[in-house]
Amino acid sequence: MDSAADFKNNFVSHKGFNLIRGTHDLEEVDAIYNYDIRDSDVFVVTYPKSGTIWMQQILRLIEAKGDMTSEELNFDQVPWIELPGKGKKFEEAPSPRMRVTHLPYHLMPRALSQKKGKVIYVARNPKDVLVSYYHFHKFATMLETPKDFNHFFERFIRGDVYGNSWFDHLKTWYSHEDHMQLFFITYEEMIQDLLTSVRRISTFLGKDLTDAQLAHVVTLSTFQNMRVIPQANYEMVPDDLLNHHNGTFMRKGTIGDWKNHFTVAQSEAFDRVFQKEMKDFPVSFVWDIR
Ligand code: A3P
Repeated sequence: MDSAADFKNNFVSHKGFNLIRGTHDLEEVDAIYNYDIRDSDVFVVTYPKSGTIWMQQILRLIEAKGDMTSEELNFDQVPWIELPGKGKKFEEAPSPRMRVTHLPYHLMPRALSQKKGKVIYVARNPKDVLVSYYHFHKFATMLETPKDFNHFFERFIRGDVYGNSWFDHLKTWYSHEDHMQLFFITYEEMIQDLLTSVRRISTFLGKDLTDAQLAHVVTLSTFQNMRVIPQANYEMVPDDLLNHHNGTFMRKGTIGDWKNHFTVAQSEAFDRVFQKEMKDFPVSFVWDIR
């Protein structure tokens, strides 16, 4: 059996989207579409490795006005909506219900398209996403360790990963912008100016934080600080899900690490795909794709 076929065995293709065998529950994922949505609900939508846990930390802190004393873990305060066991809790949970997801638009609650709830979409330079995802595969036990970087590069371009095609994920979510309360931000904007990013997110959520509270949110959301905050850095995830000896969620937290991994040929091949896929996309990005 070739390794591409091996890899596919890791997934269940469900309604055009790869769910992870043994991790996702099809019925629970299907139930999400019909969830009642409250105006106070907040969904962070990301393609994997685009800053999800960063946004978990920011949302938690905005909600607590910069206070980090609660020992509750971020993935319990702002859980994944698509992970098993969370469904019932979602329907019963008190407001505000804050959730993260990697799901595509068509698997998320249809009520979002009636402007109920709020959606924050975080996008990141797909070259850096690819690199981050490659390393993530080496320590996430639910994902198969790639044979080598080139092999993973090809799979990413084909969309043979959890999240499917980076291009489709982003374009489809963005194409529904007019029907949702959507806030679109990039990882790179957050790196370049975290205070402005946090202020904009807070305003979008209708929160009224003082300058001092916003400053706390920012300080506690920097890479260096998040790295040593146990509620935020995912070190509490059990070993059977993340092999902590082989990697960490808080890996580098930088822009442009792809330049340390891509060959010139890979970069050029990626640029060609990017230009073809994104030629009609209405937003220009802050990153330099080259
Ligand atoms: P790297 O692997 O490039 O370091 P996700 O949460 O969507 O899985 O994304 C993980 C990526 O976000 C990792 O990228 C991680 O280091 C980065 N990240 C997490 N918190 C961050 C922060 N506070 N500042 C910058 N990057 C952060």
